[in-house]
Amino acid sequence: MIARIRKNEELTSGYFLVDIEAEGIGLHEAGRPAAGRPAVPGQFYMLKVGQSTDPLLRRPLSLHRKLTDDSVRFLYRQSGRGTALLSRLIPGDELDVLGPLGNGFPIPTGIKHALIVGGGIGVAPLMALADYISDERQDITAAAFIGGRSREYVLGADEFRRKRIETFTATEDGSLPRKGLITHVLDDYIREHMRKDACGRSTVCGWAVYSCGPKAMLISVAAMAKKYGIKNYTSMESNMACGIGACMGCVISVLDGGNGSSVYKKVCDDGPVFDADDIIW
Ligand SMILES: Cc1cc2nc3c(=O)[nH]c(=O)nc-3n(C[C@H](O)[C@H](O)[C@H](O)COP(=O)(O)OP(=O)(O)OC[C@H]3O[C@@H](n4cnc5c(N)ncnc54)[C@H](O)[C@@H]3O)c2cc1C
Ligand code: FES
Repeated sequence: MIARIRKNEELTSGYFLVDIEAEGIGLHEAGRPAAGRPAVPGQFYMLKVGQSTDPLLRRPLSLHRKLTDDSVRFLYRQSGRGTALLSRLIPGDELDVLGPLGNGFPIPTGIKHALIVGGGIGVAPLMALADYISDERQDITAAAFIGGRSREYVLGADEFRRKRIETFTATEDGSLPRKGLITHVLDDYIREHMRKDACGRSTVCGWAVYSCGPKAMLISVAAMAKKYGIKNYTSMESNMACGIGACMGCVISVLDGGNGSSVYKKVCDDGPVFDADDIIW
């Protein structure tokens, strides 16, 4: 579909928010599974950022916020040629967009408390999850853990707080409390809440961790969640060409059942969100 840029602004050095609009862009397209239903947190769109065949490939961006059925927001980091071209588009410019695509974050029955863990640009899809939980799932509480190398790269913390989600931050340079890695804050939080259980029951029963960010952070979060017996759903990245399951360009190795063998899964079609226990890092 052809979408129009409504707003495209630099949030902090090299990081942009872009709002685009097109009829039904926040809904699944006709002819696809879930046609007419709203995009869900964790899904993504493929954006053709140039007018010509260069760059040929679309670039995947996660749904950051569904503003209305006809407009969505992305948070993106200018990292190469495609996102540099995107950053130069101005209100009124048009671009070709495919989506929403992919599976989204699952919230299995029985989940009562969501730990949302984002590093850097990894906050992009997690904001959509926070929107969904605070707007539509009053039965679930959430806490957010956001890390960045310095205060200007801790993205979205105020937005999470505005949603009344208890929000913790960590910066590598100490420009926001606390200094260090966000995974340490997460570990302390889980241990503290487990300690508060007076009856010996596990207080983390009914908890789930939702993570997106640098690979090292995802590995650490996955190991921690496993240690404490908490389910971890993680949004994975891979280079994508088609975005719709046709080219096999985005596959990753995941465990195939309990027998230790592995199988390839497509990040665009089987993901981008996976059960962290299944991923062969
Ligand atoms: C599911 C998903 C969701 C994502 N969500 C976000 C998000 O919300 N925000 C965000 O900032 N980032 C997100 N990303 C990452 C984002 O897609 C990349 O940062 C973006 O594609 C970079 O594009 P670029 O052209 O700027 O960078 P480049 O490094 O120039 O290109 C990126 C990739 O495109 C491919 N490519 C480029 N040129 C060619 C070529 N000539 N031939 C073949 N392949 C080529 C390569 O695979 C290359 O690694 C997401 C990624 C995935 C998979
Ligand atoms: S990007 Fe083509 S199969 Fe996933």
